[in-house]
Amino acid sequence: MTDEAVLRVRDLRVWYGTERGPVRAVDGVDLALVPGETLGVVGESGCGKSTLGRGLLGLLPEGAKAGGEVRFRGTDLFELSGRALRELRGPELGMIFQDPLTRLNPLWRVSEHFEELLRTHCPDISAEQIRHRSLATLRRMGIPPTRYRNYPHEFSGGMRQRIMIALGLVLNPAVLVADEPTTSLDVLVEAQIIRLLADLRRNFDTALLLITHNLGIVAEACDRVAVMYAGHVVETGDAREVFAAPAHPYTRELLRSTISLSTTGLHYIPGAPPDLVDPPPACRFHPRCPDAMQVCATRDPVTVSPRPGHRVACWLHGPAEQVGAGGDAPLVREEIDVADEA
Ligand SMILES: Nc1ncnc2c1ncn2[C@@H]1O[C@H](COP(=O)(O)OP(=O)(O)OP(=O)(O)O)[C@@H](O)[C@H]1O
Ligand code: SF4
Ligand SMILES: [Mg+2]
Repeated sequence: MTDEAVLRVRDLRVWYGTERGPVRAVDGVDLALVPGETLGVVGESGCGKSTLGRGLLGLLPEGAKAGGEVRFRGTDLFELSGRALRELRGPELGMIFQDPLTRLNPLWRVSEHFEELLRTHCPDISAEQIRHRSLATLRRMGIPPTRYRNYPHEFSGGMRQRIMIALGLVLNPAVLVADEPTTSLDVLVEAQIIRLLADLRRNFDTALLLITHNLGIVAEACDRVAVMYAGHVVETGDAREVFAAPAHPYTRELLRSTISLSTTGLHYIPGAPPDLVDPPPACRFHPRCPDAMQVCATRDPVTVSPRPGHRVACWLHGPAEQVGAGGDAPLVREEIDVADEA
């Protein structure tokens, strides 16, 4: 691993225009990815993980707007023309999408998907090379060569997902964003694919951003983890260290809910992530946080670094002098009186 970041993100903001106002799905994220490392991105549904993954590659849907800076080998992607950005996609910047069915053209055979992709990015490639490279990648995903000329609807959901992964891998991109690549796969295939992604970074030095709900995969396969809550990255650090000693209450609660699901059954974080049109002020987790203090509801937490490479945005770790003046008193929440409401 070198120290040089292949992708560096500063103050990334992405918002979707809606009738109710802008949905601030990613709101001030800083990240860096170095060649050959895997960064796991976790957080509850709706926290902005997919939007972050797409924003990193300048691949935002219609109606989305972005601010901040995403530098790939020093070049700001937001300053590139649409054409220059398209040229980087595939050979340099790859994406495996969360929803494989909508990404495969139902009228095209699997072979045609590979042909189109490889011809676009490698104009001099021969038909035989396309076939050889595509079949080799499909085989690594457990799709036999006999299925090469089938249409997407002829495959199971899990197989379609593996075809999408093969399309993401065939060009060996420098940066690969994989958005829940194993969600509809059984555990054996899931383990196999995670191993393949690990090989990819070993063999090609690919920097991988792996978005997943499966914290076990992050613990096993990722070097670092970024925990997202309501459009913010609230904690980042070495995956094993963060999981062994989470510093942010949200990370701790997320881990507790996962662990209890597989053991005793019942721990969940009360409430739900906020509406990103109008999120709570200051720390966005304060309405759900068991440790919330007065200051948490009034002032944005300062990001601190408890140990090298570890960052956390929470007043529990914030500079004590800033909490001051009684701000560390427990937060008194307004209880809703059901009788009054009736
Ligand atoms: N095209 C869109 N238009 C408007 N709002 C959107 C759009 N796409 C996503 N959002 C909103 O942006 C927020 C973040 O969505 P995103 O899909 O990034 O979350 P996520 O963390 O990937 O969730 P999941 O785990 O369910 O995939 C959500 O509030 C979502 O409703
Ligand atoms: S800043 Fe306060 S409310 Fe937010 S996570 Fe930390 S303790 Fe909880
Ligand atoms: Mg998502």
